[in-house]
Amino acid sequence: MPESQGRYIMLLSVHGRVRGCDMELGADPDTGGQITYVVELARDLIKHPDVERVDLVTRRIVDSRFDPAYAEPIEELAPGSQIVRIDCGPKRYLAKESLWPHLDSFADNLVFYLRQQGHAPDLIHGHYADAGYVAARLAGLLDVPMAFTGHSLGRVKRERLREHGYSDEKIEKQYRITRRIEAEEHALDNASFVVTSTHQEVEEQYALYDNYQPKRMFVIPPAVDLSRFTPPPRRWQKRPAIFDAITPFLADCGKPMILAVSRPDPRKNITALVEAFGKNKALNEAANLVIVAGNREDINTLDRGAREVLNEILHAVDLYDLYGKVAYPKKHRAEDVPFLYQLAVKTKGVFANPALTEPFGLTLLEAAASGLPIVATADGGPRDIVALCRNGLLIDPHDVEALGQKLLEAVSDRAQWKKWSRAGLRGAHRHYSWPAHVEKYVRAAGTAIQRAAKNHRTLSASARLITANRVVFCDIDNTLIGDKKGLRELLRMLKAAGSGVAFGIATGRSKALTLSVLREWKIPSPEILITSVGSAIHYGPRLIEDRGYEQHIRYRWRPEALREAMKALPGFELQGDEGQGRYKISFTIDPDEAPSVADVVRHLRRSRLQANVIASHGAYLDILPIRASKGMALRYFALKWGVPPDRCLVAGDSGNDEEMLTGNTLGVVVGNHDPELEKLRGEPDIYFAEGQYAWGIIEGIKHYDFLGRIRTEEPEAVVHA
Ligand code: GLC
Ligand code: MG
Repeated sequence: MPESQGRYIMLLSVHGRVRGCDMELGADPDTGGQITYVVELARDLIKHPDVERVDLVTRRIVDSRFDPAYAEPIEELAPGSQIVRIDCGPKRYLAKESLWPHLDSFADNLVFYLRQQGHAPDLIHGHYADAGYVAARLAGLLDVPMAFTGHSLGRVKRERLREHGYSDEKIEKQYRITRRIEAEEHALDNASFVVTSTHQEVEEQYALYDNYQPKRMFVIPPAVDLSRFTPPPRRWQKRPAIFDAITPFLADCGKPMILAVSRPDPRKNITALVEAFGKNKALNEAANLVIVAGNREDINTLDRGAREVLNEILHAVDLYDLYGKVAYPKKHRAEDVPFLYQLAVKTKGVFANPALTEPFGLTLLEAAASGLPIVATADGGPRDIVALCRNGLLIDPHDVEALGQKLLEAVSDRAQWKKWSRAGLRGAHRHYSWPAHVEKYVRAAGTAIQRAAKNHRTLSASARLITANRVVFCDIDNTLIGDKKGLRELLRMLKAAGSGVAFGIATGRSKALTLSVLREWKIPSPEILITSVGSAIHYGPRLIEDRGYEQHIRYRWRPEALREAMKALPGFELQGDEGQGRYKISFTIDPDEAPSVADVVRHLRRSRLQANVIASHGAYLDILPIRASKGMALRYFALKWGVPPDRCLVAGDSGNDEEMLTGNTLGVVVGNHDPELEKLRGEPDIYFAEGQYAWGIIEGIKHYDFLGRIRTEEPEAVVHA
């Protein structure tokens, strides 16, 4: 694949049902505005000349209750822009609160996808806490900048639920709120920039976070699809179908129509609207009220909130005797929505949004783009919109009487109505078009990408973990370090080798001890870091730990019992704290007293304990889980990332390197090796270098032509040997 010129932007939006057309908005609480936004963003970003590719990555859903389209791994949105569906936990549909345990696997599977593609994105943008978490992980692995959009925030939600009398315990159980907030903090901490919709969101919502950095926050309000939402034509060629769902409710369809479009969610406060309408006689004589609140079969089968809202509407209609004045169609399709606004425009009506809080309110822009004035809650989104567009009135959603009064004003003053209608139309085109949105977005992204390129902490400016087809793995002590000149020459070679070669380190040292030696010897961060004799794997400059590997090696690990059992043997003294790890117990050996490794293994086995016992330099003894060693960590990496072991060159000098030198890897034993490795001499694909320390590694690289065509020993030689 040729090096790309334009940007490759990856948008992550994990939950809900994401597809390119006929979005099932409102079908469940996870398929709403965020989904519309990300799909539209993916479609419009690719139109920008600086953007070459866009992947909108979501969860793959294989569920007989749902459209098979959600199970398709790839769906093209436009040339260069596609939806990519990645497996994540069980195949069936899951609510977003249930996705948390599966997000690490989502990230792993996404890495696998990227490796197959062979190139890494320039920017990873996580939408909502779940995808923010995945984006932060991936950005850390690949050393790629990330962006974050919260869409709604856990801390805000928790406060609101507390105000409604929910106990913390219940909030936790129902919403996994701690996990969500932690993910948001993590995403904010890692993000190069944060995209928000309104100024209020920055000042009142993000400000609640520990990682609140307002300088990194850009207010880029969502845009509206101006090709879908337009003023009505003078005459309709054909009567829009949605008319037939509304007219049966109304005695006089010609009266100004007060339109509300929202999910039947108590927070949208539609009941207050019906009450305001019902209580104000002049208003309900002068206008009709049309409420489009999702789709339903049977109110009794809806979730509690929706049931409540609909029952309240029905009740208020009856109480205030609003028959013939209020319409609440049972069903509508996404295609009907533009006609609803147009219909309201034809009658010189208004769009009403009395929500208790309104972080954005895309419907307000749809109304504006259709030429329909708005009467909306004085909160985040409506405030910014009315300030820019001057297309209506702001109201206090708790004051029912004033709401009725303002609505009456809005539908009574024709001259004012015309001004609002025109101003809204103009404002929507000027401030809320997709090209304007994308332009601001690409500018923010470009800055982040350039800054990241300058600050690269690894050998190269490309995400080698994704592009590499081979890896040089080096032990540290007595291999990588020991000869300064050799080391500099080796690092130069690796840097020059380009994005096809990754740099790995496999050491007995802990992560902390490794970092200090890397600093001391001015060694750049490796792409893959195996520490503590293979009991942990980390990736990228931010050293993201491989959680899957940790799960994998925990098997049968009983550190307490092992420590206890070792007390029975003479000649082993526990190393200091820096030598101990979660999955590593290390001793120094007194050679005069200590039994052999084989005897140690036998002793542990008799105590019914399983462990991997490794000696180095005749001086150190490491006890590790049975699934852990440098060699096993390397093979785990190889399998997971799809780099075959025979594309891994491995250099070492002592006992704990043995397992990674044998097998299909291309082994290099440096000239200054410990005698304990002599037994490997003559084995296939283990090269004994003359050169000492890093010079030995260089010699090995040349021996195998590892940065070139890669020359391994003839298989025949093995057979005849
Ligand atoms: C490193 C570690 C030590 C370990 C030794 C052999 O020196 O710090 O704990 O025993 O390697 O693997
Ligand atoms: Mg060593």
